[in-house]
Amino acid sequence: MDITYRQPRITDGQDVHQLIKNCPPLDQNSLYCNLIQCRDFANTSIIAETSDNKVVGFISGYIPQNRPETLFIWQVALNAQFRGRGIAQQMLSRLFSRDPRIRFLETTISPSNSASKQLFERFFNDHLMNVDSKTLFARGVHLDDDHEDEVLYVAGPAKSFDPLPA
Ligand SMILES: CC(C)(COP(=O)(O)OP(=O)(O)OC[C@H]1O[C@@H](n2cnc3c(N)ncnc32)[C@H](O)[C@@H]1OP(=O)(O)O)[C@@H](O)C(=O)NCCC(=O)NCCS
Repeated sequence: MDITYRQPRITDGQDVHQLIKNCPPLDQNSLYCNLIQCRDFANTSIIAETSDNKVVGFISGYIPQNRPETLFIWQVALNAQFRGRGIAQQMLSRLFSRDPRIRFLETTISPSNSASKQLFERFFNDHLMNVDSKTLFARGVHLDDDHEDEVLYVAGPAKSFDPLPA
């Protein structure tokens, strides 16, 4: 099935909320948070949808106020039926290439999330980015005892990029 990529709209809020609910181990944020992401962070977020308009993928991101050349990737979610086809990699590439001012990517990854690790490592390698990593939010300190550490990856500057549509 063909997949198209586009910016989120307010009307995607419910679908995004449901998608994230079905994508453990992602934290489920409030519907209100997802609505705000779709409304006010649309420029730095992306939707993947099927030809019959089903939302199957979502990446939320934002530009940190003190780092205008950085795209912080908050969550990446892909419907389980659509995994392993490079769709998350496509979403990431299209999102990162949207704004030519963006040269750095930040994200946090939980050490046990091999799919997420592989997704980002491939992206960093493809775009010849230097990468630093360190624990940002620690289990039992910033996070609850049952929440794994969140390791911050800071990558960039991107050295090779073919801009993609959307
Ligand atoms: C992480 C996730 C978005 C990946 O989506 P996807 O479309 O299947 O990823 P891609 O097909 O683009 O694969 C990207 C890379 O990850 C690898 N990969 C995908 N699933 C994997 C898995 N379960 N274990 C290890 N590697 C995996 C792919 O082989 C590919 O590597 P390659 O390019 O070197 O071959 C998806 O698994 C998901 O939604 N998981 C649940 C939510 C989550 O953990 N999100 C990430 C944290 S923000």
